[in-house]
Parts: sequence; C-alpha cells; structure tokens
Amino acid sequence: MSQGATRREVLLQALTGYALVRTLLWQDALAGPVRQEVQAWLSKTHELCAELREKKLTPREWQQQLEALYTRVPLPELLAAIDVERLKPGLELPDDRAGAVLAPLPRVEGLPRVFGSKLFGLAQGRAVVPHGHQNMVSMHVVLAGEFHLRHFERVESQPRHLVLRPSIDRVSGPGDLSSISDQHDNVHWLVATKGPAYTFDLILDRLDPALGFAWKLDYVDVARAEPLAGGLLRARRIEFDEAVRRYGKT
Ligand SMILES: [Fe+2]
Repeated sequence: MSQGATRREVLLQALTGYALVRTLLWQDALAGPVRQEVQAWLSKTHELCAELREKKLTPREWQQQLEALYTRVPLPELLAAIDVERLKPGLELPDDRAGAVLAPLPRVEGLPRVFGSKLFGLAQGRAVVPHGHQNMVSMHVVLAGEFHLRHFERVESQPRHLVLRPSIDRVSGPGDLSSISDQHDNVHWLVATKGPAYTFDLILDRLDPALGFAWKLDYVDVARAEPLAGGLLRARRIEFDEAVRRYGKT
C-alpha cells in the first residue's frame, strides 16, 4: 500500500461523522473517491476558519488543528484543488523577491468564504523576507522545491525593534508546513534553497475588527539582530525596500 493511500485512509477516518458538503471543484479530473476526500478536507478547512472567525477557536488552536489537517492531505490533491499548473504561467518569479498570485480553493456550497489563499513562487536563492504579522493568521504548505525555514516568537514589540526568540530552523520540502499568528511563531523567513520553489498560503486577516486595520507586516533585520540574554534577539524594524535589498536575493 502506498504512503498516499495510508494518509488517505487516516484522513477519511479522522473526518468520519463530519457532514460532507457538496463542493464546486475547478475541475472534474479528480476520480470519485478522491473527489469525496477533497470535499472532506475542504469542508473541514472552512469549518476551522469559520470557528476562528467566530472565536470558537483561538489562533493557536487554529494553527494546531489546520496543521494537523493538512499534514494528512495528500499533496497531489492539494495541487489539483488549486489547479497549480493553471496558475503557474501567471506567476512571475521576480529576480529580487517572492512572487504571488491568488490561488482560491474551491468553494464549498452553502458556506461563506472566510479565508484567502495564495500561491507563492520563488526562483532559487530568493526569499520571503523576514517579517512579523499583526491581526492575521496564515498557514504555508511547501508544494515544490526546498526552503530554509525560520520562525521566531515575537517576545516584545518596541518602537524601533522587535525582541524575538528563535523557534523553528529547518529545511522544509514538499508537504512540510508551518503557520503564524499574533500569539505563536509570529515572524518567519523563507529562503528558497532549491528552486523554483512554491508554497500554498492560507490566510485570514482582520481577526480583531476593533484594531481598525486588516493586517500589518513588520519587517525586521533579523540577521543583524543584537543578541540578548536567554537566546533572545533584538532585531531592528526596517522598511520593505530595505528588507528586499538585504534579504530578497542571496
Ligand atoms: Fe508572512
């Protein structure tokens, strides 16, 4: 039995009892049993995102549960669901940074769309430059290529600096995934060590409408951070242009 079949069985087992909702898939190429399984994880994705919106889940719980779900989603099914080959021709791979296009997952009939999704593409040696996030969550699945993936906890926000604690530092290949929120693993930095490299990003912003902004990104000069006691880093806030100049291409 292939690893894919095993993962499929585990996924279906995990979703037993969940009411399947008919989905509107981009393409009918998916065979019957696989199509049903795609419907299952798509429905579960909508459910988890709706629960975060409704504050039935904390951002941290959303990270844990969505990562647990997508760890079990076979990569070929995710690629088919977003029809990645249809998207690639429209995705420019810039020389000095990451490129991105919208990559909507198929709608689930009867459920509002409460999240966005994008396909990111990077030529080898280019990077998603180091940045933190405010008022949003996102999860990232590596689809192809290889990344040097680094995350940091945001320990303190200062006027000109962020105090960070390194939390993830690993090689990330197809199928590997990670996520950010205001509460956990807030800052990330992805360098495409084997390209072209692609990630699928699932995003919810405007988590707290009272903040008055949909989302914010805080770019940091993390490679030149000042080491503090206890393994902490004090990284200077920088503008996007400087972040691209320093980190976009290595
Ligand atoms: Fe990000």
